[in-house]
Amino acid sequence: MTHKTNHKLHIGSNDRVFVLTGAGISAESGLATFRGSDGLWEGERVEDVASPRGWKRDPERVWRFYSLRRKAAAAAQPNPAHLALASAERRLGDRLFICTQNVDDLHERAGSRNVVHMHGELFQSCCDSCTLEPFADTRLYEIRADHLRCECGGRIRPNIVWFGEVPFYMELILEELGRCTVMLVVGTSGVVQPAASFVHWVNQRQQDSGSSVRTYYIGPEHPANASAFTHVYEGSAGELLPRLLGDQKQDKG
Ligand code: OAD
Repeated sequence: MTHKTNHKLHIGSNDRVFVLTGAGISAESGLATFRGSDGLWEGERVEDVASPRGWKRDPERVWRFYSLRRKAAAAAQPNPAHLALASAERRLGDRLFICTQNVDDLHERAGSRNVVHMHGELFQSCCDSCTLEPFADTRLYEIRADHLRCECGGRIRPNIVWFGEVPFYMELILEELGRCTVMLVVGTSGVVQPAASFVHWVNQRQQDSGSSVRTYYIGPEHPANASAFTHVYEGSAGELLPRLLGDQKQDKG
């Protein structure tokens, strides 16, 4: 069901809100989404810059790509959609959980705390060979990637989940999916797994246990999995989220 709305979502004192965000929530901050009409990510093919194979073939190209992403994200500011979620978290506390597919840090810079980055974080690096703990890293690698070596001899790579790799925090995400009563999905095309299936998992849970979950999608166009949602709100996240999440006295509790 598609809605154009001015109303606020009702979030009661027993509700738990699971938020899934994608590239669309950062679009109004000036960060490019992934699936533009030309099928390229900022002029690069996905398999060249976001796969273990692409990394093996040309680490410098991969670092060049993620250095540009670091530069763009560092210059960007959180927009009203990020701010509305942070403000809702201040009211709801840990009853609001954000799972983002985004690697930028705009949720945190808006003030959100209860956030996990299932596809990794742009401002972290790790080793491609050993279990070195991922570390904060804002550097721009315009030098030869070959120089970026871990003590073990492995290469330092961005701490990003590439195609074919396992997303982070899945245990916690499943736990939150298993107990939410409201699901809010914002700005994601609904094609990349497993995130695209979260709404189906919640629907299955409803069927199995008789629990009731309201599922909302927010974005300017219908995602590939639109039919799985109880409500689709068409519009930009920066415009709709502040309205849908506007201060609600009943959130407290
Ligand atoms: P996509 O680029 O596939 O989709 C972005 C979505 O945002 C589209 O559905 C747009 O309609 C929507 N959108 C655009 N502007 C918007 C706005 N102002 N407000 C709300 N929505 C808007 O990005 P994702 O679905 O996030 O993974 O992509 C998922 C994953 O694919 C990414 O996390 C990335 C990529 O592989 C990794 O890097 C591992």
